Amino acid sequence: QLQQLTHHALNGKHFIVTAGGTKEAIDPVRYITNYSSGKMGYSLAQALVENGATVTLISTVDDLKLPFGVKYIAVSSAEEMRNAVELAFDQSDGLIMAAAVADYRPENVAQQKIKKQTHDPMTMTLIQNPDIVAMMGAKKAKQIVVAFAAETQDLLKNAKAKLLKKNADMLIANDVTAVDAGFGVDTNRVTILQKDGDSISLPVMSKIEVARQIVEHMIINMTKE
Ligand code: CTP
Ligand code: CA
Repeated sequence: QLQQLTHHALNGKHFIVTAGGTKEAIDPVRYITNYSSGKMGYSLAQALVENGATVTLISTVDDLKLPFGVKYIAVSSAEEMRNAVELAFDQSDGLIMAAAVADYRPENVAQQKIKKQTHDPMTMTLIQNPDIVAMMGAKKAKQIVVAFAAETQDLLKNAKAKLLKKNADMLIANDVTAVDAGFGVDTNRVTILQKDGDSISLPVMSKIEVARQIVEHMIINMTKE
């Protein structure tokens, strides 16, 4: 009976999950990106579906197995991801921002392939991308907003500041210097920070297990309110 209940906890709810590192064009053949694999986002989509939710996955990567029933939207840049998230957000019950959004993009995208220069070094001006999760955090109504934080130092201090700055309900803090956590690997070790100040440190586990824990805590939060 309990098993039945937990598996239907998110029936009728719709969530947006973002996954992967954004690609910021330099010219027709080059871009700036990062090492994000998208695995955490795909695992979260699966964990949500397992609990009866409908999911829109907005992703820069398509080389992972799409969980059954998930609606997939392909994007490349942070701008494209922002537009896709904005379009879906008002009709959603929540957003999990697992994507690694590039903080900056080239100010100008060259129309033609940039030629090797005769002078050295060559420089390129970068401008800031929109902070997608902060924008949604600022305008959320009923939605639960979950952000991630990849840190290489002062994990909890930086993560707490991010939770507040982005007006998130939960923040998943990730020490990306650990060999068993973060970019590209199948395991992760995270601390879940809650808006009310609570924090839960999880041991090293597979990304799907981490995702199931995150979703369990989302369900608890949503039934509290
Ligand atoms: N994020 C976002 N839009 C951006 C940058 C980040 O929505 N332009 C989201 C990420 O998806 C993540 C959270 O913000 O959920 C934190 O990302 P992170 O890179 O750790 O934090 P930043 O606010 O970008 O700060 P910094 O990189 O300086 O640590
Ligand atoms: Ca960043």
